Amino acid sequence: MKLQGCRALLTGASGGIGSALARALAQAGAQLALTGRRADALAETAAGLQPLGGCAHVLPADLEQGDALPGLVDRAVHALGGIDLLVHNAGLAEAGAADAPDPTTVDRQIAVNLLAPMALTRLALPHLLREGGTVVHILSGAALVPVPRLAAYSAAKAGLAAWGDALHREFAARGLHVLNVYAGPTDTPMLRRSPLAVAMATPESPEVLAAAVVQALRDNRRSIVRGGPQREAQLRAARDDPTVGDALHAGPGPMPRR
Ligand SMILES: NC(=O)c1ccc[n+]([C@@H]2O[C@H](COP(=O)([O-])OP(=O)(O)OC[C@H]3O[C@@H](n4cnc5c(N)ncnc54)[C@H](OP(=O)(O)O)[C@@H]3O)[C@@H](O)[C@H]2O)c1
Repeated sequence: MKLQGCRALLTGASGGIGSALARALAQAGAQLALTGRRADALAETAAGLQPLGGCAHVLPADLEQGDALPGLVDRAVHALGGIDLLVHNAGLAEAGAADAPDPTTVDRQIAVNLLAPMALTRLALPHLLREGGTVVHILSGAALVPVPRLAAYSAAKAGLAAWGDALHREFAARGLHVLNVYAGPTDTPMLRRSPLAVAMATPESPEVLAAAVVQALRDNRRSIVRGGPQREAQLRAARDDPTVGDALHAGPGPMPRR
């Protein structure tokens, strides 16, 4: 796709991978609407685009509040004059036992990682279909090989990957394109907070990941898997044969309840 002049709504733009994506998209010539809960952090991302010649609209919203989503899409359309690119980057990963008694963390992870992107895409679809739009999902290796203690996160990311592939197949003839990005460990606050991070490989920088996403958009790729060819082969093998994934994730038992 052509990024110069394209009108993009980017979620999770208040830090981590999202602010790197904002910079990479602005450098490629996109006009941006940035969303997340923290207005001050969004304003900081927007200010960081000015030296790059970019400017962005700051539209704070909480993706857990389903009734805020129509207003968010309306505000983005009003600010940008339309939406050609919708980047679902916001995410929430909370490690914990799958049988923890309090369902709140499960519900929140499904809301932010799966239900909100699906709802936002449905709301933005009339705009995306006007001139042939693109949807990007920032997923995770956990969407291909679900991870113990991240069961709700894995389920949400796998669900969003499936939604994206189905959506592309349903609407490609009308000009919609979906890019699924299977990110690897990336050096952000999310990874630094994770109690599972110690077991992970050397993380990628958010800037390198963002540059790869921009290149994938330019090349009209349908998916990318980060972490190198060896990781990609390992994830694909584990997806095709669950026992390979079982061996990859064999380790300590369930997480102690908090
Ligand atoms: N870091 C990794 O190793 C890694 C690996 C694979 C995939 N990913 C994926 O990459 C994406 C970005 O993650 P990150 O590492 O950059 O994490 P991060 O630093 O924790 O950033 C998460 C972003 O999501 C936004 N967000 C969270 N809950 C929200 C809510 N209820 N409403 C609106 N926005 C919300 C946050 O904004 P506010 O706090 O301002 O709301 C923030 O901008 C996520 O989808 C994540 O699953 C990350």
